[in-house]
Amino acid sequence: MKNPWEDIPLSDYESHMSSENVFQLQTLSQMMKEQFSSDKFESIMILGIAGGNGLEHINKEQVNKVYGVDVNQSYLDECVKRYSELNGVLETICADLLDDGLQLPYSQLLVANLLIEYIGYSCFQRVVMNVKPKYVSCIIQINSENSFVSDSPYLHSFDCLEKVHHQMEEEALINCMREIDYRTKEIKERTLPNGKRFLRIDFVQ
Ligand SMILES: C[S@@+](CC[C@H](N)C(=O)[O-])C[C@H]1O[C@@H](n2cnc3c(N)ncnc32)[C@H](O)[C@@H]1O
Repeated sequence: MKNPWEDIPLSDYESHMSSENVFQLQTLSQMMKEQFSSDKFESIMILGIAGGNGLEHINKEQVNKVYGVDVNQSYLDECVKRYSELNGVLETICADLLDDGLQLPYSQLLVANLLIEYIGYSCFQRVVMNVKPKYVSCIIQINSENSFVSDSPYLHSFDCLEKVHHQMEEEALINCMREIDYRTKEIKERTLPNGKRFLRIDFVQ
């Protein structure tokens, strides 16, 4: 079955996420700066990298390899075009993480921001066990109202995501990581203009 993310134009996703009342793209970028600088990482894998938001904070002096994984090849093409300064460091992998047989390379830090929502906890466990990172940093969205997509003129581009969306909860994610021997290292929270919250949870093995 085709993943619904393959049909969402990157411009719709980014225009929605960066609109004034949503302000999620800008917030994620700031939070990614903190994720990347929380330790000295030589390799980083970003799951659901979309158009490469946050890659501007990669320190090439320190990081040898950044893997950007996404199911949408056109998003990955845009990442490579936008971040040509990461040539030789950034490697894109077009794959559907829901695919049981998927094999991914090792990375010291695994980043999953607003991604577990679209693959669910057990698939995420499988991906983590496949990559075997020392550190995992996740950002999940905690909703204050019913809808998981905030209001904007682009809202209806995301209707197709209803069927693959999983509601995230802090305790459930912590338990899911504990089951595969990762303990919680740090939790940080940011409130967005529309009352939703982003929770960043860092884990270590
Ligand atoms: C909500 S966006 C998060 C984007 C990004 N982390 C950011 O900072 O804006 C979810 C991303 O995950 C990708 N994605 C969703 N399901 C996926 C799957 N099963 N396999 C691989 N990528 C997936 C989508 O294509 C999209 O780029």
